[in-house]
Amino acid sequence: MTKVTRAMAVVGLLLVTLLADVAMTQQPAAPTAKPDEGMPITDATVLKACGTCHRPDDQGQMSRISFQRKTPEGWQSTIQRMAALNGLSIDPQTARQVVKYLSNHLGLAPEEAKPAAWEAERRLIDYKYTASADAEFACIQCHSMGRVISQRRTRSEWDLLIAMHRGWYPLVDNQVFRRNGPPPRDPLPDDRPRDLRHPVEKAIDHLARTFPLKTPEWTAWSATMRPARLDGTWTLSGWDLGKGAVYGTVRITADPAAPDEFTTAISYRVARTGETITRTGRGLVYTGFQWRGRSTTAAGADSAMREVMFVDRDWRQIEGRWFMGGYDEVGLDVRLERIHTETRVLGTDRTALKQGGAGQELKIYGANLPAGLRPADIDLGPGLTISRIVSITPDVATAAVDVAATASLGARDLFVAGASKPKAVVVFDRVDAIKVKPDWAMARVGGATFPKMLAQFEAWAFHNGADGRPDTADDLNLGLVDAAWSMEEYAATYGDDDIKHVGTLDAVTGRFTPNVDGPNPVRKGSRNNIGDVWVVAKYTTGATPAATVRARTHLLVTVPLYMRFDPTVGGQ
Ligand code: HEC
Ligand code: HEC
Repeated sequence: MTKVTRAMAVVGLLLVTLLADVAMTQQPAAPTAKPDEGMPITDATVLKACGTCHRPDDQGQMSRISFQRKTPEGWQSTIQRMAALNGLSIDPQTARQVVKYLSNHLGLAPEEAKPAAWEAERRLIDYKYTASADAEFACIQCHSMGRVISQRRTRSEWDLLIAMHRGWYPLVDNQVFRRNGPPPRDPLPDDRPRDLRHPVEKAIDHLARTFPLKTPEWTAWSATMRPARLDGTWTLSGWDLGKGAVYGTVRITADPAAPDEFTTAISYRVARTGETITRTGRGLVYTGFQWRGRSTTAAGADSAMREVMFVDRDWRQIEGRWFMGGYDEVGLDVRLERIHTETRVLGTDRTALKQGGAGQELKIYGANLPAGLRPADIDLGPGLTISRIVSITPDVATAAVDVAATASLGARDLFVAGASKPKAVVVFDRVDAIKVKPDWAMARVGGATFPKMLAQFEAWAFHNGADGRPDTADDLNLGLVDAAWSMEEYAATYGDDDIKHVGTLDAVTGRFTPNVDGPNPVRKGSRNNIGDVWVVAKYTTGATPAATVRARTHLLVTVPLYMRFDPTVGGQ
């Protein structure tokens, strides 16, 4: 018996004593069952690092390892658990090699990885897993469903995964995996008997059918997979929450010694302000398409951002997220597009131009903009005339735009010397309303023991459109505006005083920084600095007479994540 099967037998025994009363229809695979077909492992480093416990069989299949596939983060967190709990000793260099081999040979195909991309990109989203309510209930109580749907396993590996949870976290049965109270006895309305299995048994059956080890997607991808050749220059279009659109370029250089490893030189501008940011970094592409990188500015380690991106299979586009911070809430959505010598338009500093306004300066960000650009080379459609090119460099042109008083309201496509950007700007006559994004927000107190989780707000201006009514399909989105930010009490009890304790909201940038974690002796009852408030944006529209519009959103400031079931370091 190998060490692992012995360990599993111990877990199994534990199970029997713990769960003597649990009706189990799915037992962990018995050793006598026909062995599953796994993926042989031929890499000497993996065999050496893991083989003492996970013995390869005569087909080269290593116990447990050969029967599951996952993302680089998935493999990394398994190896971290091996080291933390199971007695594996491994140096970082070897661990990186093992993660690389396993991600490339027991990884996910692009179609399999895409639906779970938000997990690796560490996005705070409301994800709903609709395919099985049992699986969703049983599996999202401690970590996200992204952890689950980013794995593929044989049926016995799905069973063993549950055994692993029960072995390491014996309370999981009472807390989540078992039904509370007796099973329902009455038959269903149409007299069919009820499915009396426990939620976790139904979940596992669902997962084993939905996420099997062998899939046509993986067979097809592993046949064509190769190191992506990303050498060259790429345009960067992104969104920096709170600051808005960013545009620039990324130069990617392949490491001559390793075709899937790269260095990067990144340069971009915040469109609205012109602020320039330069970063340098390195990246690695797993499984032919999963970019994992890290970059810093001249400020060093504190400016580090992790990069999680998908490389399109035609190697012409790379998309994903760059992020930093304790809870990864600060970051950029990015898209890179390969560029050679052709002219390209990426975006503009402002996205709304006033009807009847003369000489409105518009900065057009792009790549390879021609030095001799003339007003006639820029086309913004009917009613908009370029009176003058104010300045021009290869990546930004400033043009003076006259908008006729008769120009119709609405979006205009922008053409510059053969390149284009659809709906680049909107012609408007007034601001009717602003909206605050996001619709709701959560922050976590921190700074003493746990990191703080910040919240960033944005104010967007809108025109009510032809029907004159707000929140209808014809509303014109005029883009980000500079609002004045403040907080108001969200009155939930008598004498509610959350606003004094939860933290501070920057009046200019709209960034909320929560107060410290832990009891606050100054606060009544020494309560934590948690609570909820309204975040209010006010904007003066520039109409005559001046009018102020306002909007607000709910901010919940809560406790830190005391237990974090997510791997916290990246797959590099
Ligand atoms: C010292 C013994 C030991 C070594 C070395 C070891 N493991 Fe494990 N491994 C275990 C035990 C025990 C279990 C079962 C308990 C568990 O899942 O934590 C296990 C389980 C696993 C599983 C199944 C986990 C799951 O999610 O179902 C995988 C995959 C795995 N190991 C991968 C590895 C890899 C990769 C290496 C080498 C980098 C490695 N192990 C090295 C002891 C070891
Ligand atoms: C009681 C909390 C809890 C619940 C409920 C829970 N998990 Fe987990 N899960 C964990 C912890 C803790 C880990 C291990 C973290 C680590 O490997 O560092 C984990 C790890 C995992 C992993 C990664 C294992 C690996 O090595 O690849 C998967 C996959 C997973 N869980 C799936 C599930 C599924 C499926 C369910 C629902 C049936 C579920 N979890 C329910 C706490 C939970």
